[in-house]
Amino acid sequence: MKKILVAGGMGYIGSHTAVELVSAGYEPIIVDNLSNSSESMLEPLEKLCGMRPKFYKADIRDRAAMDKVFAENEIDAVIHFAGLKAVAESVSMPIEYYENNINGTLVLCEAMRAAGCKKLVFSSSATVYGPTNEPPYTEDMPTSATNPYGWTKVMIEHILEDICTADPEWKVLSLRYFNPIGAHESGLIGEEPNGIPNNLFPYIARVASGKFDHLKVTGNDYPTPDGTGVRDYIHVVDLATGHIAALKRLDEQNGYDAINLGTGKGSSVFDVLHAFEKACGRELPYKIYPRRPGDLAFSFANVDKAKRLLGWTAKYDMDRMCADGWRYIEHVSK
Ligand code: NAD
Ligand code: WQD
Repeated sequence: MKKILVAGGMGYIGSHTAVELVSAGYEPIIVDNLSNSSESMLEPLEKLCGMRPKFYKADIRDRAAMDKVFAENEIDAVIHFAGLKAVAESVSMPIEYYENNINGTLVLCEAMRAAGCKKLVFSSSATVYGPTNEPPYTEDMPTSATNPYGWTKVMIEHILEDICTADPEWKVLSLRYFNPIGAHESGLIGEEPNGIPNNLFPYIARVASGKFDHLKVTGNDYPTPDGTGVRDYIHVVDLATGHIAALKRLDEQNGYDAINLGTGKGSSVFDVLHAFEKACGRELPYKIYPRRPGDLAFSFANVDKAKRLLGWTAKYDMDRMCADGWRYIEHVSK
């Protein structure tokens, strides 16, 4: 059974990917410093995986700890989710974001190289398309960012491409996630943001659970069908299965590549709100607020490359994303 190191695997996307890895016949080895997750994730993971994944509480910036992981496990490939990801926070804490995300990636790659493991799937983001490209975004478009978090993704993609150029033994895929939402259908795992959620979906979920009394719709004057922002929301389990397809692709490809993981469809804030109302069975109050600085009207993927190279397309629709997301909220609030 091939062992896959899942850096940041106790987090939202990593935990869902760990479940899909097991069902695809891989053994996940999780490394996570628990800076944005909890060791209690191991309980539901054990239930969903049918085995308790091996877990190292460690920071990918700790070279000695990472060397120990590689010494104790014959790692076939690495999936690298480990990073800080809050856009607004990155603006106020640029040093922490560059240090954690970029230095963390460099130390991880050093440990991989020392262990002779040169296959990597990296969590990139649609944010690398910046404000100048026109959606649907294609992978050949120039990348840029408007905040430190986005720049860490742009820079890490360049770093990984340069590593592959210097040493053709490396095989790296940067997966550019659009807007992952929802939860595993069991309701056992989902998104648990610390504090007040910055993102739309977890915020709506907590309006539905009564934690917040209304949704703040940030802008209804965009040049979009209903005036609110349009995004490419993708079920987190679809995203997870995209990583399984990416691992298989790594064995066929040489060098570096980047692939969008999205649905190719756009949904507005009101589309999501109304779908969530259907899932939770009640009307959800909202108020209109000013636009968030830097927000785009539209962001959605061209998904042809993922279909061509990964043989992968997203399966689940907005109703399923909301039904699964609501089931998780109901489960955790029991
Ligand atoms: P998350 O915060 O739930 O998971 C990230 C995990 O990495 C956490 O468990 C955290 O404890 C861990 N971590 C962070 N820094 C670490 C370090 N130095 N050493 C070890 N562990 C560390 O986030 P997520 O939503 O699962 O996102 C996973 C990845 O996908 C991130 O790199 C993020 O930038 C990227 N991404 C997320 C989204 C999204 O909307 N959620 C969209 C695009 C890209
Ligand atoms: C979606 C839409 C808001 C909250 C972010 C990061 C990106 C990536 C995914 C990491 C927008 C509107 C939001 C709210 C609202 N993360 N909204 N009320 O901004 O597309 O992407 O998450 O890589 O880097 O930028 O997602 O969910 O924050 O916003 O009306 O309380 O919902 O204006 O139109 P976004 P989001």
